Amino acid sequence: MTGVYLSGTGNTKHCIEKFLAGLDEATGCIPIEGKEAVEAIHYSEEVVLAYPTQFSNVPYMVKDFVKRNAELWKGKRVFLITTMGAFSGDGTGCLARVLKKYGAVIVGGMQIRMPDAVCDSKMLKKSLEENQRIIREADAKIERTVAAIKERGNYPKEGLSFPAHLAGLFGQRLWFYGKTTGYSKKLKISDSCVGCGRCAANCPMGNLRIENGKAVSLGTCAMCYRCISTCPKQAITLLGKKVYEQCRYEKYVQESVISQFSE
Ligand SMILES: Cc1cc2nc3c(=O)[nH]c(=O)nc-3n(C[C@H](O)[C@H](O)[C@H](O)COP(=O)(O)O)c2cc1C
Repeated sequence: MTGVYLSGTGNTKHCIEKFLAGLDEATGCIPIEGKEAVEAIHYSEEVVLAYPTQFSNVPYMVKDFVKRNAELWKGKRVFLITTMGAFSGDGTGCLARVLKKYGAVIVGGMQIRMPDAVCDSKMLKKSLEENQRIIREADAKIERTVAAIKERGNYPKEGLSFPAHLAGLFGQRLWFYGKTTGYSKKLKISDSCVGCGRCAANCPMGNLRIENGKAVSLGTCAMCYRCISTCPKQAITLLGKKVYEQCRYEKYVQESVISQFSE
């Protein structure tokens, strides 16, 4: 078994790592941008694929990876994990349909609520306590799911049904369809950029470059929010115009450890 994931702010990475550690301690997981991802899938009969929901859809980068490697999937048993800020309908189903076309067998799907990665929207901002509660609930859900799989071979089928397909389609995807049909050219970099290069070093798409002491976007943004959530100057935005709080999974966990010790 192998695990491959896309993760911008660390939520999906945490979820797939916890899931795989519970299921099989020997299984590691690889970021989708890693050179070894294709080879690892090639040599595995079972694959866990994980990604964040974007506009009730699969991030274009993940769909692109699956399609570019269409010959990889024939006969593979695939379990899908998606994370979401609030609602995804059929976040897993969207990719399951593509994978089935290429001959994969979908063994199940799990959709997990995590903190919202979109940190340049005031509307989506949550308190630290709320995000920590969401993570605790996500962890408990992963533990229950792993136990059900180990004890009864019972794989969840979240997001894979026809009603879930309708919920995802009409609940959100139709209205935002244009946003997920390609890479984004809409990343904005403000004058506060000091050209430190952190964004360029971290971008899973290699979409950022430092030119004349400033970051520039090459127009192939995966909308993962990794650069936005780690820029030391909060100089990068995508959907909004101002960063309200840089959201990162590790931050919520560290804060929770600090508060435990200070109690
Ligand atoms: C561009 C974008 C679109 C998103 N769309 C949705 C959505 O439609 N529904 C939802 O529940 N969460 C949505 N989210 C939230 C993420 O799916 C969620 O925060 C996810 O856990 C981030 O995972 P990551 O840290 O591994 O990247 C969106 C996030 C981004 C960046």
